[in-house]
Parts: sequence; C-alpha cells; structure tokens
Amino acid sequence: MKKEDKKKILFVCLGNICRSPSAEGIMLDLLQKKGLTDQFIIDSAGTNGYHNGDLPDPRMRKHAAMRGFDLVHRSRQVKTEDFYDFDMIIGMDDGNISKLQELSPSTEETKKIHKMVDFLVKKEATYIPDPYYGGADGFELVMDLLEDACEGLIAHVAQEKE
Ligand code: 4NP
Repeated sequence: MKKEDKKKILFVCLGNICRSPSAEGIMLDLLQKKGLTDQFIIDSAGTNGYHNGDLPDPRMRKHAAMRGFDLVHRSRQVKTEDFYDFDMIIGMDDGNISKLQELSPSTEETKKIHKMVDFLVKKEATYIPDPYYGGADGFELVMDLLEDACEGLIAHVAQEKE
C-alpha cells in the first residue's frame, strides 16, 4: 500500500520509555496477527526529550515480554512535523493531551489529537497511569489497558473505512 493510503498513528506519553512504546509494540503485534501490517504506520514519541535514544524502561520491557511483546523502539521527542506526518496522535493522559494541544501548529492538526482511553472496549479508565515511579502492578495495569485500547483502536479504524 502507498504511504499516503496508510493509517499513520503516533502514540504519545511523557518520557516515551513506558506507555507509548508499549502501545506501539502491542499495536504492531496485533496488526501482524491480523494481517494488517501493510495498512498502518505506527510510531511513538514523548513530550519531554529526557530519554532520547533510550530503549524502553527495563521494567516495561519485562512486563511486555511476559505477554510476548518485544519493545525495541528508541525514545524520541514529539516534533512539529509529527502533526503533519500522522493522521492520529494519541495521548496517554491529560497532561500529554494538553501538551500536544499546545504544540499543535493549527486547528486542523489539533483535530488529530485523541485520548488512548477513548478506545477502551472492555476496561474503563480516564487515563493510562504513568507507571514510572510505582511498582509491578502499575506496569501490569498499563499492559491490560493498552492491549484493550489497541484492539478498540483497530476496530475504530476499520469502521471508519466502511
Ligand atoms: P512514560 O513514563 O511517560 O510512560 O514513558 C515516564 C518515563 C520517564 C519519566 C516520566 C514518565 N521521567 O520523568 O523520566
């Protein structure tokens, strides 16, 4: 499929080492299992650049690996071009959403900003909680919520195409 016809989705969190690279890894895995890899471009980024070039947090990689997801993304900061390059820019919490709205170059691009929890199907949450300063439970919760929301997101995109 030509690049312009693909659905281009950017996941965004604060540090781009826990939540958004997990969303990216889960999404890529689900798309592959569904035979949809060619129809999407998936990436992730952080609103801060503190971890630029880093692999995801070792705790996040461990909890993802326990469910069969290999996280290989290298952290990078959100940039203005992202608002033109992607069709959907999906934030993990309200802080991410506010920052994205601030960074957006125009009202047209602001329409591309979404909240990850809006794609939850089975679970309920108002944001994807930052697991960085907490324990193992927080990383498990992130995985539970993101697996559900990624399924919902794929269903949402499929419905849009109908
Ligand atoms: P993330 O988690 O936004 O899910 O990647 C965080 C990782 C690092 C930091 C904050 C949140 N930090 O401030 O270093």
